[in-house]
Amino acid sequence: MVRETSLSPDDFIYPLFVTYGKNIHREIKSMPGCFQESVDKIVKHAKEVYSLGIPAVILFGIPEHKDETGSGAYDPHGVVQKAIKAIKDKAPELYVITDVCMCEYTSHGHCGILEKGGVKNDATLELLAREAVSHARAGADMAAPSDMMDGRVKAIRIALDSEGFSEMPIMSYAAKYASAFYGPFREAAESTPKFGDRRSYQMDPANRREALKEVALDIGEGADIVMVKPALAYLDIISDVRNAFNVPVAAYNVSGEYSLIKAGAKLGWIDEKRVMMEVLTSIKRAGADLILTYFAKDAAKILNK
Ligand code: PBG
Repeated sequence: MVRETSLSPDDFIYPLFVTYGKNIHREIKSMPGCFQESVDKIVKHAKEVYSLGIPAVILFGIPEHKDETGSGAYDPHGVVQKAIKAIKDKAPELYVITDVCMCEYTSHGHCGILEKGGVKNDATLELLAREAVSHARAGADMAAPSDMMDGRVKAIRIALDSEGFSEMPIMSYAAKYASAFYGPFREAAESTPKFGDRRSYQMDPANRREALKEVALDIGEGADIVMVKPALAYLDIISDVRNAFNVPVAAYNVSGEYSLIKAGAKLGWIDEKRVMMEVLTSIKRAGADLILTYFAKDAAKILNK
């Protein structure tokens, strides 16, 4: 009766990794319980997610071919575009969000176009806008740009509006840190940069005030929901953003946060279910309205009991 924070399956967004081919359901080694799946398998999985009371998924693509400009990202017949159509066809109530970024599609693994070994911010914006529009055309419900290029929310907003998708919301990865907690995801999405790192566009983990600046910029450009990422080592940021702005706040409980708990449980050192629920509760308590988490299905099963 006096509990201040409660979790519900409808707080969750479940990430799915879609790959090319047929009948593929490949477990990601560093993320037990998570899979790379072909479109046919993703559809079944999406239905299961919805049946657990989880309202939304976010899609990440692993294309068959990667190139310098990440053309698989805005290919109308790309893996994500196909998956969106298939899911909206078979599970229309499920809300489909797409990760809008280049790193899964570029041969060098960076989140933008390269010039002289560095990522070119402004040239990347046009490609991100094309990617978002192609997701919208395939039937996506919301675009979630995760690249951290300056000005991308505005570029995507303008492109969506001019292509007839003015009602499509944008959830911006607004305060995204250059974090080592993304390690397992990069195995899952096959998106590890071939050289260097992402520190020229992602944030320094030591900075707190800068997060508020980044979030304010994205809201000014038209972001409808803002995200803090990772979640657990950044609860102070989630709380700051919640207190400073009146838009919904999402938090990404990232791959490394998931894998640590899975590994600890496998070794028998921690109680997986209790630690999982404690972590998710803490993210909500800090101020997140929405939680992107690989634990969504496991937690929903407990909450539904
Ligand atoms: C793409 C992207 C990343 C994640 C989500 N979108 C990786 C990165 O920035 O390297 C990480 C998600 C996770 O670790 O679970 N830019």
